[in-house]
Amino acid sequence: MKTNVCVIFGGRSTEHEVSIISANQAMHACDKEKYNVIPLYISKKGVMYSGDALLDITNYKNLSSLLEKCEKVVLYNDGNGVVMDRIKKPLFGGKKPVTIDIAVPVVHGTNVEDGSIQGWLETLDLPYAGCDVTSSALGMDKVAMKDVLAARGIPVLPCKCFYNRQWFETKKSIVSEIETLGYPVIVKPANLGSSIGISVAKDKAELISSIDNAVAFAEKILVEHAITAIREINCSILGDFNTAKASVCEEPVSADGFLSYDKKYKEGAKGGSKGMASTKRIIPADLPDNITKRIQQYSVETFKALGCCGVARIDCMIDKDTDEIYVNEINTIPGSLAFYLWEKTNLSFQSLMDELISIALKRRREKSNLTFSFDTNLLELHGGVKGTKTNN
Ligand SMILES: Nc1ncnc2c1ncn2[C@@H]1O[C@H](COP(=O)(O)OP(=O)(O)O)[C@@H](O)[C@H]1O
Ligand SMILES: [Mg+2]
Repeated sequence: MKTNVCVIFGGRSTEHEVSIISANQAMHACDKEKYNVIPLYISKKGVMYSGDALLDITNYKNLSSLLEKCEKVVLYNDGNGVVMDRIKKPLFGGKKPVTIDIAVPVVHGTNVEDGSIQGWLETLDLPYAGCDVTSSALGMDKVAMKDVLAARGIPVLPCKCFYNRQWFETKKSIVSEIETLGYPVIVKPANLGSSIGISVAKDKAELISSIDNAVAFAEKILVEHAITAIREINCSILGDFNTAKASVCEEPVSADGFLSYDKKYKEGAKGGSKGMASTKRIIPADLPDNITKRIQQYSVETFKALGCCGVARIDCMIDKDTDEIYVNEINTIPGSLAFYLWEKTNLSFQSLMDELISIALKRRREKSNLTFSFDTNLLELHGGVKGTKTNN
């Protein structure tokens, strides 16, 4: 019997469109002999849709006509497992709810990739591919991620962090604290991706306008030293804590050393449907063996330190002036699931999907050995609410 795989994408995120591309790539890569692929598209308003029309990327050019061809659905646990059901039922008969065996979230950005979707799937008790709640949340918050990595001795650039409320109240002292880093600096929303809200500041005036811009995108902001002679090297990791392995490295290419949203997704994309796979890049990155190995090692360590699972991409930076290597960030659900890196590591996109699904099912088996409830019924034991004193 085929496994029913629900690929979840979209959602209330600034990287909504990128997720549509990544998910469509992933759905087409799945082995149709083994899996029934069931798309679950979450609109920007949070409405869930399913239907075969979601499997054709060209349909997304006209979203409203696409959604007319789809049905609004809901996932719920009926006691025997998780099913997908239509919200509007036909008056007579109609299709039965579909059992979902496993979910594959292919979402990017805040409100989805940050543990939100993962928490929802945990609550439903549905096995899912990729990082769990904690690793997803840590991976999305650049400041929390730096704290964990620094504590493990993995090199990251130090940063100054503040909330937009503080910025409006104490601009002056925040600016002077940041200036101890020395210009140029780079201002980033702590929990976004795709370079949204990010800019480099060379002086005080630019710093203030960069932060004014960033606070429109996120509550938490970080500022760090901007490396002027930068090489960016990315590496994907696949597996779990015991099996984590590194892909070849890539070097995304940009003329002015800053990878903007447009450069990542628009340049080189024919028809705009290739997502992260369309970025201009060199694979494998042209690096001395020892540097490649160090970057792969930092990437494995980062994946493990954050408790990741599935496929992730770790982005590193080399400061060409000092030869220092820093881990810049992790993408716990990387654009295009980093298939283009695994293809160059002798793993096809189809096998990558197989591995993601089997790692998820393995985690499920391991987790099912854990104890989540005690046999005694606390309410029975204490004769109801009256006699119960909680201690938590
Ligand atoms: N410390 C830095 N110095 C110089 N450039 C940087 C630095 N940090 C980030 N960048 C540039 O900004 C881009 C986006 O930053 P990043 O931290 O990767 O955020 P995002 O999550 O939006 O991808 C990077 O790809 C790189 O080009
Ligand atoms: Mg990045």
